[in-house]
Amino acid sequence: MANNFLLSLSLIMATILGLFIGTVSSSSSADWNILNQKWRFKVEKTTNDLKTYCESWRINVEVNNIRGFSVVPQECVDHVKKYMTSSQYKADSERTVEEVRLYLSSGCCTLKGDGKDSWIFDIDETLLSTIPYFKNHGFGGEKVNSSSLEAWMMESKAPALDHKLELFHEIKNRGIKIFLISSRKEFLRSSTVDNLVNVGYHGWTRLIMRGLDDEIMAARKYHSKVRQQLVDEGYRIWGILSDQWSTSYGLPIPNRTFKLPNSIYYIA
Ligand SMILES: *[C@@H]1O[C@H](CO)[C@@H](O)[C@H](O)[C@H]1NC(C)=O
Ligand SMILES: *[C@@H]1O[C@H](CO)[C@@H](O)[C@H](O)[C@H]1NC(C)=O
Repeated sequence: MANNFLLSLSLIMATILGLFIGTVSSSSSADWNILNQKWRFKVEKTTNDLKTYCESWRINVEVNNIRGFSVVPQECVDHVKKYMTSSQYKADSERTVEEVRLYLSSGCCTLKGDGKDSWIFDIDETLLSTIPYFKNHGFGGEKVNSSSLEAWMMESKAPALDHKLELFHEIKNRGIKIFLISSRKEFLRSSTVDNLVNVGYHGWTRLIMRGLDDEIMAARKYHSKVRQQLVDEGYRIWGILSDQWSTSYGLPIPNRTFKLPNSIYYIA
């Protein structure tokens, strides 16, 4: 008798609990879709599916699950373009910069002040933006034409990216040596220096670009080779800021890597 009572009581409780969980999970699955804007205006379901698909593609590029893509999937070019020109891209990049500041100011690094503390910056989509070029060249939907991209780089008119200029000078003012390691080729050196200086970057310790030998090497090997040279010279690499994973692959491992968003192109 008492057992029966307990049994029915637990059945009732289980049912109530089930209903409760059911309600919570169904409403939260709607909330968790960040691109679900149904509460603001009515969007065609198919449009939403495409947005969801493209946002998943983009996130998986950022977390480095999707690697080595040569073009953005055709149906997602618009989405990637919207993101890369949006205030969300700016906010995401600003957040990265904030995290770098937090890292540097929270006693991350015992700076010795012996001139060997160092920081690595990448250039494109890190300090300078090539988005003005890609706006006129398919926005990731076309295979990158390096001769036409390099011709654009020769014009030295890439704008500085928001917040990076401040960060660059803050890091320099801490007495940390700045190394710019770029996948750009040597012949672009003077146009790159002009471009950097024109928009306000100056006072780096070394600008390292790909020489003829490095051009045939995968970017990740080139970057790791350069880091090894720096470490051999006695530098302590406290961090890297880059939009590509390939800049921090392999040995030697920097203390921290900060990845900026970029879903237009992938450098392996
Ligand atoms: C790449 O760009 C160059 C210079 O703009 C052009 O002459 C060439 O035809 C382009 N190549 C391809 C494959 O589109
Ligand atoms: C990070 O820095 C600490 C010193 O603060 C050092 O002991 C450690 O080896 C460094 N780690 C890497 C991966 O460089």
